Amino acid sequence: MRKQIVAGNWKMNNDDAESKLLVKQIKKSIKRLPLRGTRVLVAPTFVNLKTVVKKSKKSKIEVVAQNMHQETNGAFTGEVSAKMLKSIGVETVLIGHSERRTLFGETNAVLASKVDAAIANKMELIFCFGEQLEDRKSGKHFDVVKQQLQEGLFHLESASWNQIVLAYEPVWAIGTGETASPEQAQEMHAFVRNLLEETYTTALAQNTSILYGGSVKPSNAKEIFSKEDVDGGLIGGAALQAQDFTAIIKAIL
Ligand code: G3P
Repeated sequence: MRKQIVAGNWKMNNDDAESKLLVKQIKKSIKRLPLRGTRVLVAPTFVNLKTVVKKSKKSKIEVVAQNMHQETNGAFTGEVSAKMLKSIGVETVLIGHSERRTLFGETNAVLASKVDAAIANKMELIFCFGEQLEDRKSGKHFDVVKQQLQEGLFHLESASWNQIVLAYEPVWAIGTGETASPEQAQEMHAFVRNLLEETYTTALAQNTSILYGGSVKPSNAKEIFSKEDVDGGLIGGAALQAQDFTAIIKAIL
């Protein structure tokens, strides 16, 4: 049975004190929620991971890294490896967020090597993918997503997929307030699930969680999460306010 997940991607926000306060507020606000297996994840910046891991202890909050390098160590100034993340208790990592792809030039090939390193280090990864507005306007959005998945993930054996969560984030909906309609989200999620079934097995396709990200707010979360192939959300701006993030979590319960 695939898990429901609400993950907050804090991006480059919150210093040490702000991180401590936000995770404390989220911890308090979800304490009595009937999560019943729904997972709550937060992704602070590298410098705040250890603090947030410590503050999340004895709570249902899981801590996620926003990125990682594909090598274990070496001359890669500014980078962080899977081994280092695991050494501070971080077991899950975002890979392929559109901002990594567009702002930092991470290609499908680079992302495939990051995927391999995460799998090899027994980390869970949330693999992000999604089309640009011009892809959708030209009707190429399914081809773009198919290529991102084929080149980033489909080299993996079936057994590795129990370490994978997918996150569809139409780039034109990220941070814009322009949310994909629930029907658009469902259409792409169903396309991806069908692709998994064609490439692997029906069981793997059914057991893989597919999250939606892109301007999810308390006002639209319930309708988006009600769609059959939407298993939760990857939340940006709204994750920075404990009250909004909690309202989005409530929307999936
Ligand atoms: O990774 C989640 C993020 O890209 C979505 O951002 O602000 O549109 O919720 P936002």
